[in-house]
Amino acid sequence: MKKNQYILLVGKEKRFIIKKTDEIVNTPVGKVDTQKIKKFGQKLRINKKTFTVVNPTMIDLLKRARRIPQVILPKDAAIIAAHTGLTGGWKCVDAGTGSAFLAAFLGNLVRPDGSVISYEKNEKFVKNAKKNIELLGLGDIVKIKHSSVSKMKEKNLDLITLDMKDAEKMVKKAKKALKTGGWLAVYSPHIEQVKAVKEEMIKNGFKDIETIEVIKRKWKVDNFTHPVPSGILHTGFMTFARKI
Ligand SMILES: C[S@@+](CC[C@H](N)C(=O)[O-])C[C@H]1O[C@@H](n2cnc3c(N)ncnc32)[C@H](O)[C@@H]1O
Repeated sequence: MKKNQYILLVGKEKRFIIKKTDEIVNTPVGKVDTQKIKKFGQKLRINKKTFTVVNPTMIDLLKRARRIPQVILPKDAAIIAAHTGLTGGWKCVDAGTGSAFLAAFLGNLVRPDGSVISYEKNEKFVKNAKKNIELLGLGDIVKIKHSSVSKMKEKNLDLITLDMKDAEKMVKKAKKALKTGGWLAVYSPHIEQVKAVKEEMIKNGFKDIETIEVIKRKWKVDNFTHPVPSGILHTGFMTFARKI
């Protein structure tokens, strides 16, 4: 196992991520000598508690990423991949980067030879997003540009994702930047934004226009089985359109 590798430690009650620095590090349950971590699957004792050493996924690592603006959750990012057929090698543009959660999700799936160029106009968000992308080990795939997406120059794209105010103003430019068969996916919290985006998609000759919402509901399965009462039901609508 390499030095500086992130490790997910899974215990009975707690799970957390640490870095294998080969030094003694503090964890939420006490100090641990990371030199003792040799391979995934091994058991580790910390303060009389047992933890399993697991190789974290990008989704595990996202929990350590800092969120500044509102992020796109995995349930919504996943439907973008499912609807468009996103796969390795795709060339994508994303805006605005925000906390880079969507950019990271896309980057993880277009590996090893795809790319995500993500545009963000707010400098503070750019700095945080770059840190998040480094934490996730996606620096070679996801590039963040400090600029308005209205200045984008990329062409022949497979996918453009927009999660920003006034996304409808980018629809015309997106059409030019996509390759034939490429997809535009717009995330909008409000239905008024969906209407504005859809109108532009029609005006610009996009095909296969569809708006969906993903409602994820957890269930408590026990003696008395019922949905877990949820605080969040609505996140956003996704409007898809294809350049044909
Ligand atoms: C809700 S956040 C995006 C969150 C992101 N999808 C994520 O999952 O972390 C919206 C971002 O769009 C940025 N933004 C708004 N208009 C923009 C533009 N024209 N070009 C680039 N970024 C823009 C804002 O600064 C904000 O950070």
